[in-house]
Amino acid sequence: MTEIRTEANMNNKRNTVVPSGKDAPIGVFDSGVGGLTVVREIMRQIPNEKIIYFGDTARVPYGSKSQETVTRFSEQIVRFLKTFHVKTIVVACNTASAYAMDALERDCDIPIIGVVKPGARMAAEVTRNGRIGVIATEATIGSQIYTQYIQDLNKNVTIYGKACPLFVPLVEEGLLEDPVTDEIARRYLTELIDIDIDTLILGCTHYPLIRSTLGKIMGPKVTLVNPAYETAQELRRMLDKMNLLNDEPPKLGSNRYQFYVSDKAEKFMTFANSIIKYGILSAKTIHIEKY
Ligand code: DGL
Repeated sequence: MTEIRTEANMNNKRNTVVPSGKDAPIGVFDSGVGGLTVVREIMRQIPNEKIIYFGDTARVPYGSKSQETVTRFSEQIVRFLKTFHVKTIVVACNTASAYAMDALERDCDIPIIGVVKPGARMAAEVTRNGRIGVIATEATIGSQIYTQYIQDLNKNVTIYGKACPLFVPLVEEGLLEDPVTDEIARRYLTELIDIDIDTLILGCTHYPLIRSTLGKIMGPKVTLVNPAYETAQELRRMLDKMNLLNDEPPKLGSNRYQFYVSDKAEKFMTFANSIIKYGILSAKTIHIEKY
């Protein structure tokens, strides 16, 4: 399973259309608010880019759903994002990256990048004792995708996966620093502390939002890897290589950042404004099942 379609392998595909120009926006999606952690990194690292974000707030969580369902949802979202003539799509959701990437790559005629591969690479680089923990949704852990990618890079590393299904609803409810989140995190993480990991991958894009709680529990000896950071770097490299990096800041009034959701736009917007400091003016609800 590969996550990034390079220009070279795109050219080998029949019916490949030339991606839109430098000025076109980047499409980003997640099951809900988690992908905003990736958006935040893209805004920071490649500030000239326009972004169209979709959060599937009506159908979150993805992590407890089947591969077939997550793939169908992801394909609908890609069709929706393509109506904006995006130049690339970032799957800012580990679950969709684990379950749907193959299908999306097969059918998509623009470059597409997920969050798992960049996160796996970074973890393989930073571990010193070769013991890496991954916390993620049930789907991502069950898919073993992090294990596969990391061991492709280094066979001598051992990966310990732990599904943490309650983190997504806690984050979606805004309980980012709360005794309930603290208690649940302790229960989930104790076994990873006991097996002496030195690196912990936050394998769900919602989890960086409770990073301070997770860091406090794991202690200073454990490096927390946020794949969002590495994904934005990878995106920058890929756009640069394909000569698709926007070299000029978008003009005033060009709708630089647009947010769409499948339900509860107001609630989403309040949340987004609490974690992104760009003054997001609006989020619109759309009917994703139409796509
Ligand atoms: N934020 C997503 C991920 O990275 C999905 C969480 C969910 O919807 O269960 O896996």
